[in-house]
Amino acid sequence: MRLAGKTAIITGAGSGIGRATAQKYADQGAFVICAGLSKKSNDDTLKLIISKGGQGSSRELDVTDSQMIEKFFSDIFENYSKIDILINNAGQAVIGDATEISKTDWERQMDVNLTSIYSMSRAIWAHFRENGGGVILNTASIAGLIGTPGQVSYGVSKAGVVMATKCMALDGAKDNIRVNCVCPGWVQTPMVDYHLAQLDDPKAFKDRLRRLHPLGEGNINDIAAGFIYLGSDEARWITGIALTIDGGLTCGLVPD
Ligand SMILES: NC(=O)c1ccc[n+]([C@@H]2O[C@H](COP(=O)([O-])OP(=O)(O)OC[C@H]3O[C@@H](n4cnc5c(N)ncnc54)[C@H](O)[C@@H]3O)[C@@H](O)[C@H]2O)c1
Repeated sequence: MRLAGKTAIITGAGSGIGRATAQKYADQGAFVICAGLSKKSNDDTLKLIISKGGQGSSRELDVTDSQMIEKFFSDIFENYSKIDILINNAGQAVIGDATEISKTDWERQMDVNLTSIYSMSRAIWAHFRENGGGVILNTASIAGLIGTPGQVSYGVSKAGVVMATKCMALDGAKDNIRVNCVCPGWVQTPMVDYHLAQLDDPKAFKDRLRRLHPLGEGNINDIAAGFIYLGSDEARWITGIALTIDGGLTCGLVPD
């Protein structure tokens, strides 16, 4: 058990990558606090964990709402003596080029994907410091490393996550607070399904995506595996990295 005895908070745990990570964390012995917008989805993830003999709890949380974050952490610190790992995974994707998205969409994108990481990390920082350290893991994206057409706000928010990770890693090192991020390639989740459903030819787009990943299609468990490694003590000397899990997509030009 690679995470035995650890307590982890995972945001966006109600679906997709967050749910897979929550399940894998529990499989590896962690107590998992499933947090996210939808109470029902968080509860469903918790049920899956418990059905396999794992342990955890569930909390409703909007990562853009400062008051809710404050209440969330005061409840957490009242109920749990020590949190070891915070996974800032909640996210959304606003699609469109600069002429297509409104300023409100742009700001919302930054709030959900980037500012939330600042707010959540800020809220747990003193707790980690007082407890001799902790781990913060952020979900970035390959879209934060390379340009993608029609995703300017998403790409900028995720590039910000990569840089926030590096800066926070430097700030946290003296207190043994490790900060890393994972940059997934495309994997099927409700977020991706939602966007595919808007396309005229989703099958053609999916085929193209498959070709873009030299190792072929990955899945949510491939991403969760990275979170396990980075959250475990095996990664005790790793901080400030952006772990790309993308089947080779960002290596360079993909041959036909
Ligand atoms: N699926 C991919 O191909 C892919 C690739 C790269 C990065 N990502 C990133 O992975 C993360 C998880 O996405 P996913 O693909 O699993 O999609 P998803 O839609 O299944 O998961 C996103 C989760 O975030 C939650 N969420 C959204 N806004 C929130 C808010 N304000 N407060 C709290 N929770 C909120 C949603 O309820 C949902 O559970 C996101 O950060 C996404 O940007 C996904």
